[in-house]
Amino acid sequence: MTLTRQRILIFALAALAAVALLLMLLMRVQGPAVTGTGTGGAPDIGGPFSLTDHHGRRITEAALTGHLTLIYFGYTSCPDVCPVELQNIGAAFDRLNGEDPEKLARLQGFFITVDPERDTQAALADYMPNFHPKIAGLTGSPAETAAAARAYKVYFNKAQAAPGEKSYLVDHSGIVYLMGPDGKFLAHFSPNTPPDQIAAKLRDYLF
Ligand code: NI
Repeated sequence: MTLTRQRILIFALAALAAVALLLMLLMRVQGPAVTGTGTGGAPDIGGPFSLTDHHGRRITEAALTGHLTLIYFGYTSCPDVCPVELQNIGAAFDRLNGEDPEKLARLQGFFITVDPERDTQAALADYMPNFHPKIAGLTGSPAETAAAARAYKVYFNKAQAAPGEKSYLVDHSGIVYLMGPDGKFLAHFSPNTPPDQIAAKLRDYLF
């Protein structure tokens, strides 16, 4: 090989390496569709929480173990979005009637309030019977519910009430999360996902 050909070869290899590096950088910049854990696995949704359900039982992330859990954040004074979403979750559970009862026993839903000042245990005890019995309402101190919302990357913001107005709205994200029996994130559903679609996903993971 002549010196010139060797140089051309080295130049070509360097150019190839540069292109490969550029491609890798571009893919990095574009990144995955959901924010990752850094391990390249499921998004970093979930984690420790400590709340009280509408029966007064302490519920932590340990309650996810061995279950398929749908988790939704909202509040009982929500005029329309939350009731519809809770109805959809209940309807999805109902679509699975007829499956093995042992498997169905592993299904559960958690409705976690972003309005703990109004959504006391007593308020949730009044509200939850409107929905599927598998859905438990969870509340806690403002710090506890905020910590849970943070773990699930849920945004919420208490809107300023009009002057003289006692009632207020709480703006909040409306994503439903599906968590697996190891407490890890499996899937999410955007607001107003049809119950059939949620049920199909539950069936995929039912064990
Ligand atoms: Ni709502």
